[in-house]
Amino acid sequence: MRVLSGIQPSGESLHLGNYFGAIRQQLALAAEHEALLFIADYHSMTSVRDGAARREFTRAVALDYLACGLDPERTLLFRQSDVPEVTELAWLLSTVTPMGLLERAHAYKDRIAQGQSADHGLFAYPVLQAADILLYRSDLVPVGQDQKQHIEMARDIAQRFNHTYGEELLVVPEPFIPEEVAVVPGVDGRKMSKSYGNAIAMFAPAGEIKKAVMGIVTDSTPVEDPKDTGSALFQLWTLFATAEEKQELFARARRGSLGYGEVKKDLLARVLAYFEPMREKRESLAAHPERVEAILADSGRRARAIGRPVLDACRAAAGLGAAPARA
Ligand code: TRP
Repeated sequence: MRVLSGIQPSGESLHLGNYFGAIRQQLALAAEHEALLFIADYHSMTSVRDGAARREFTRAVALDYLACGLDPERTLLFRQSDVPEVTELAWLLSTVTPMGLLERAHAYKDRIAQGQSADHGLFAYPVLQAADILLYRSDLVPVGQDQKQHIEMARDIAQRFNHTYGEELLVVPEPFIPEEVAVVPGVDGRKMSKSYGNAIAMFAPAGEIKKAVMGIVTDSTPVEDPKDTGSALFQLWTLFATAEEKQELFARARRGSLGYGEVKKDLLARVLAYFEPMREKRESLAAHPERVEAILADSGRRARAIGRPVLDACRAAAGLGAAPARA
């Protein structure tokens, strides 16, 4: 089984929500299966218009995943644009993609609803995403709920292409949306998100992490009274604790006499300790950009070797290029 995932290089620094809500599961899946993980730099062109920024954001995503434990011997970590075949496949797929399908895409509809103009790249975004998945004959695509529609479109497009040119050409992928994924609360109790300004960045300087943790919003329950263990502070703390530690702390919280300040200080120590090895790894890789580049380039070559024959089969079936030599 082949697992594939794409990450947009957005320039945002990773936070606890990204890590516990997505990356950890992606890496666990990657450790168990043949996995391809690519940095969607072509897709980022629909929002990032600065080439130097894109290159920097792409590098940052590679550093993040390597720091978080992606094993580049096992898992391919590559730039989408190092396999330009994907754009050709996107063209082939676009010819079987109904306009109506793309008009129903959330990203496009939202942009129009906000009264903003959309370019063709944004409109065609789901077709390129389908090509990403189909080029490598991916079986499983782990994504968040927000990407479900895109995977359904990829399935639809694959079926249409197969129906038109040959049933065995493309693998119809399955989405994998883990149910148990933690919704990580931000410091204000809403879902942690860069756009809410409530995130705790995992590789930020210690002082910044401290500020965020100490700023977690709590209610005004006096120290000696029982606390609501469903609050953001306790939920965040739980991410870094064993089941026994949780039982113990929650029991104290319910008995009362556990202050929020104590929990925050303990949480801060745990956050810093937890991410310290990853931070060190990230820093050492950042000091050796040539190593990161070598990983991306090598993975890109290996990904291309998987994708090229798939595109060639599609081209041949569609009557593109010279007729295949007869045996
Ligand atoms: N659209 C995805 C996102 O914004 C990124 C992405 C691009 C992707 N191509 C993909 C995800 C293929 C999974 C499979 O998160």
